[in-house]
Amino acid sequence: MSENKSYVMWNNKGGVGKSTITFHIASVYAELNPDKDIIVVDMCPQANSSSMLMGGGKDSEKKLQDLISKEEPQSIVGYLTEATLLGDADINKYITKLSTVNSNLSENIYLIAGDGNLELIAPLLSERADATPLSVRDDPWVKIHSIVRNLTKKKLNEGRDCVYFIDTNPSFSIYTQIAIVGGSSLLVPINADDSSIFAITGLFNLIWGTSVEHPVYGKYTFASKAKAHKLPLPKITYLLGNRFTQKKGAAHAFKALSNEALNKMYDEFIKNPDKFEATDHQIHNIADFEASYSIELRDFNSAGVVAANQGLPLSKMDKHTYEVYGEVIQVAKEQRELCKSTIEELVQKL
Ligand SMILES: Nc1ncnc2c1ncn2[C@@H]1O[C@H](COP(=O)(O)OP(=O)(O)OP(=O)(O)O)[C@@H](O)[C@H]1O
Ligand SMILES: [Mg+2]
Repeated sequence: MSENKSYVMWNNKGGVGKSTITFHIASVYAELNPDKDIIVVDMCPQANSSSMLMGGGKDSEKKLQDLISKEEPQSIVGYLTEATLLGDADINKYITKLSTVNSNLSENIYLIAGDGNLELIAPLLSERADATPLSVRDDPWVKIHSIVRNLTKKKLNEGRDCVYFIDTNPSFSIYTQIAIVGGSSLLVPINADDSSIFAITGLFNLIWGTSVEHPVYGKYTFASKAKAHKLPLPKITYLLGNRFTQKKGAAHAFKALSNEALNKMYDEFIKNPDKFEATDHQIHNIADFEASYSIELRDFNSAGVVAANQGLPLSKMDKHTYEVYGEVIQVAKEQRELCKSTIEELVQKL
């Protein structure tokens, strides 16, 4: 058995596809790796990836509500609370075996559900993280920030490796910091627009800090505390250009934006390759960098709408038409196949 892998999906720009990609890659990863247990940790109060994984649509909202309204919520809030109070938590109390609620998913995929109450416990987690240590051996900041990292070391079943996928919220709140520290690999989705490309600079500054520390609040930032406490941080594994491959006419304009995003990442790579996952390939120029660190995902169009609404992995989408809120939606075979192979190619690289 080897060490578990954990992937965290983050960009501090909202709506770039973090939850959608988490749903697709986790469900396909589970299908392609029946010998492993796949655990999705939804660290976003919106719980969008949880909804998709739990079957999508109105039913999933109800099922999710049932989990989070238990006395001990069967959700990420339950897990964080127990781990904060006791120093560790029992994963089995908080996971949901997804095949019991969504028959489209394989037996080996599990969820620690997202929970809107993450917003409510966030100030309490911050307070505890910033508490004065009781002794030189006490480090509340590291303790709180390592909860998900410690979780991702756990195995669910004897003799089987686990792979964790962590979905996040765009804000850099304490639960996002905990989520980021939980990943050994960082996947950064971006869209073909300037705002999500600008967000790349923000991402580096927030996780690793600015080159010149702010004179007043510089030492209070996550980045400076992580450095001071020697907290391990994830390595950037892929830049995921989401919805980049659309209709032919758009491809050229999108390429310009994707080049800009790559330039920004490549500049960071030159300054500090240690922030990136090591690859077997030699990186001499931006083309080598692109080949190693960038993946383009296509727009899923109507296949994406159906998948999200029904919690249906692209691999299981075998019909020509689907009903979504009373409307009949057509999903051509060619489109289904293209979307499916895009996700499979990404999963095979993980
Ligand atoms: N490849 C894609 N093809 C088509 N639609 C997509 C694709 N990726 C994302 N979307 C759509 O874009 C919207 C935003 O996606 P999603 O909710 O996954 O983003 P997010 O980054 O998780 O957002 P947030 O920051 O709010 O958590 C959704 O309506 C989703 O269906
Ligand atoms: Mg999301």
